[in-house]
Amino acid sequence: MGAAPQDAHGRRVRSIFSGLATRYDLFNALSSFGIYRRWLAQVARTCACAADDRVLDVAGGTGDVAFELCRVCPPASIELTDFTPEMLDVARERERAGAARGVAIAYAEADAHDLPYADGAFTLVTCAYGLRNFSHRARAMAEAHRVLVPGGRYVVLEFATPPNVVWRALYRAYLTVAIPLIGGLVSGDRSGFTYLRDSIKRFPPQERIAQELRDAGFSHVSYRNLTGGIVAVYDAVK
Ligand SMILES: C[S@@+](CC[C@H](N)C(=O)[O-])C[C@H]1O[C@@H](n2cnc3c(N)ncnc32)[C@H](O)[C@@H]1O
Repeated sequence: MGAAPQDAHGRRVRSIFSGLATRYDLFNALSSFGIYRRWLAQVARTCACAADDRVLDVAGGTGDVAFELCRVCPPASIELTDFTPEMLDVARERERAGAARGVAIAYAEADAHDLPYADGAFTLVTCAYGLRNFSHRARAMAEAHRVLVPGGRYVVLEFATPPNVVWRALYRAYLTVAIPLIGGLVSGDRSGFTYLRDSIKRFPPQERIAQELRDAGFSHVSYRNLTGGIVAVYDAVK
């Protein structure tokens, strides 16, 4: 248990995000031409939180998902977790600026592979752009499953594989050139963005992720492609 990454991959990922934390939101906005806001809104619509939901946001970073839930469908509470403290610091700043809109948010440094919560502690677990950074996806999915109540839901947003070959080729060309370029401009360091780009390219297609969710014990697994499959929102029930 604990937040310190257990392997070299985790340490590398944490060091990338600790260096990027204060510019992460700007990078997101620029590299997606602002479309990421629409993707977030779709995540919130999928979650459709009730007022008594207890939410765990895994790899929650600077709080995009958590604060979107506060805006669209405020739950009873949100546990905003990440293993990079600098990302959580930015989220706290955003809360101080009013982003939580009165929802109770607690912050915790936590590794997605080893969540420091009791079985069945949450009614909803969210994870946006976290899965592709994890060293052991199956383990992280199993942890999400463990901390959910029976009938609780796991909602995941992640980059995906556009089904249309032309769109896919255009998007991959954009990824190859633009992500390190925009990342370099925003942060002065291209290397972390080369990792981010490659992690997007390597990430398995939607059907495979859906099967991994079933293998982790989830049922009623579905996904919805957004912007022609650049990203997908997965919805799974414990
Ligand atoms: C691309 S950011 C996404 C942040 C946020 N969910 C969002 O939508 O903007 C990925 C986040 O995952 C976190 N992360 C990566 N691996 C993790 C792990 N094993 N446990 C917890 N957090 C992790 C990173 O620190 C980073 O904040």
